[in-house]
Amino acid sequence: MRILAIESSCDETACAVVEDGVNVLSNIVATQIDEHKLYGGVVPEIASRRHCENISTVVAEALKESNCTLSDIDAIAVTYAPGLIGALLVGISYAKGLALSTGKPLIAVHHIAGHIAANYISHPELKLPYLCLVVSGGHSHIVEVRDYTKYHVIGRTRDDAAGECFDKVARTLGYEYPGGKHIDSASKLGNPDAFKLPKPKVQGSEFDFSFSGLKTAVINTVHNAAQKGETINREDMAASFQKTISEILVEKTMKAAEEYGYTTIGLAGGVSANSGVRNALQEACDKRGYKLFMPEFRYCGDNAAMIGCQAYFDYIAGKRAGQDLNGIATLSLDKLSE
Ligand code: KG4
Ligand code: ZN
Repeated sequence: MRILAIESSCDETACAVVEDGVNVLSNIVATQIDEHKLYGGVVPEIASRRHCENISTVVAEALKESNCTLSDIDAIAVTYAPGLIGALLVGISYAKGLALSTGKPLIAVHHIAGHIAANYISHPELKLPYLCLVVSGGHSHIVEVRDYTKYHVIGRTRDDAAGECFDKVARTLGYEYPGGKHIDSASKLGNPDAFKLPKPKVQGSEFDFSFSGLKTAVINTVHNAAQKGETINREDMAASFQKTISEILVEKTMKAAEEYGYTTIGLAGGVSANSGVRNALQEACDKRGYKLFMPEFRYCGDNAAMIGCQAYFDYIAGKRAGQDLNGIATLSLDKLSE
């Protein structure tokens, strides 16, 4: 079964053709980062406009690269939640148009479910259920993936998402948006023990995250130094921050695995590209004899192949969307299992 999938929830206009869930025939991503970085973050109005301009070309490219025409496609999939509403609506409208004009079924995919599904492309041998740490620009979750379409969120962020925290710390250190990858590279040159940073405690759930205290500690250290006319070594700060946030993410995930009895662990979302997080999680899993699955780098950030993969499992589970499909800016993964 061949699915043409569209992703436009944030600042990448993406289209992929995916066969039987895991065989990626094409995966085109048109990024808008160069324009948004002038403003230090994604500007929703600009994102929507660029999606409108790019989507036809991106879809045509994805078809061409897969050596398919629309008649070779069995279903159309699109990200419908969560995301920037104007950005989502561009992909949704385009997908609805394609489904209507070709008479093919339409499948609505949850963006975070898509990130989780990236692991099935990279590791078809991954057996469910398992526990997944999802860390992206907008979300940080510890999720029980009970089956391909059923999720239970055990922990979530109370404030900033992990990627957001990386980006804000990067901005404070003078790196351009999105700063996660710059922190990652700088960390390789710095001393991770140079600064002692806090690991904020969260009242209520031991599996929820809070990163604002960590972010504020970095900002205060940098600003206090500036007020004294000093500069801190930014590679050292990047390395210390990356080590601390990796430890927080890994400690909570390991605790959740123990408490819920999981020995198979997954990692997903844009921050899953981070070398500190990957290494720390690998080390913790090796120590306990757990199996760890992480997406290949090309499927860590936003892409449509992951949406095409999840759409296949949604399709098998009988999920179909109609022409009344709308975008939803905020929608918990838990809601999909109700
Ligand atoms: O999943 P994603 O592409 O978009 C959302 O769904 O939000 O995640 C984007 C986030 C950004 O915050 C970006 O800085 C972060 O992922 N990111 C990284 C790395 N590569 C991307 N963070 C840390 N280290 C990286 N290597
Ligand atoms: Zn994403």
